[in-house]
Amino acid sequence: MACKRGALIVLEGMDRAGKTTQCKMLIQALQQSGRAAEAMRFPDRTTTIGQLINAYLEKKSDLEDHTVHLLFSANRWELVPAMKRKLEQGITLVVDRYAFSGAAFTSAKPGFSLEWCMNPDVGLPKPDLVMFLQLSPAEAALRGQFGNERYETRVFQNAVQQKFELLMKDPSVNWQVKDGSGSEFHRLVSFKARRKN
Ligand code: TYD
Repeated sequence: MACKRGALIVLEGMDRAGKTTQCKMLIQALQQSGRAAEAMRFPDRTTTIGQLINAYLEKKSDLEDHTVHLLFSANRWELVPAMKRKLEQGITLVVDRYAFSGAAFTSAKPGFSLEWCMNPDVGLPKPDLVMFLQLSPAEAALRGQFGNERYETRVFQNAVQQKFELLMKDPSVNWQVKDGSGSEFHRLVSFKARRKN
């Protein structure tokens, strides 16, 4: 029996917006509505490329900026066959960060154009929906201090937010900006899941 292709849903947002928690809630809501749904996240730190990225993020190694950008992209490409397989099997994928993070984070570094940053990801499976979890700086501050990984500084995060805002102007992408505060998002997710039933 032919089955319907799964949906590719991406969650993007700033640090501490709660993407990981929201991904879990969305998967639960989808599963409760009778859909097969699985989580993925980028970077996927479990692969050989992912381990290079992990060491870089944990500041255990230094990598040249273009090089690490291409590694983040390669980390997505290496998982494309698995993603396509699952989507074709009718599994909806809920993905924590994708190429939009790739472009927003690297283009926030000096000397990188958004266009150059987007190029290596051209041709990746296109998301059906990209949810951007918005969190006010005041609420983000209430959620505690930044961690110790690379990029986790207020100045850099502000630059990344501006790049995300530019990316969200692309009308060819189905962006939806959501309030990152947990309860409201949960209500939205449950409402959507019920309506699609
Ligand atoms: P992630 O593991 O999602 O960490 P967090 O839980 O802090 O959101 O992402 C790790 C960092 O990698 C995060 O600062 C965003 C950055 N990043 C890039 O710079 N390029 C990319 O392509 C991706 C996917 C993430």
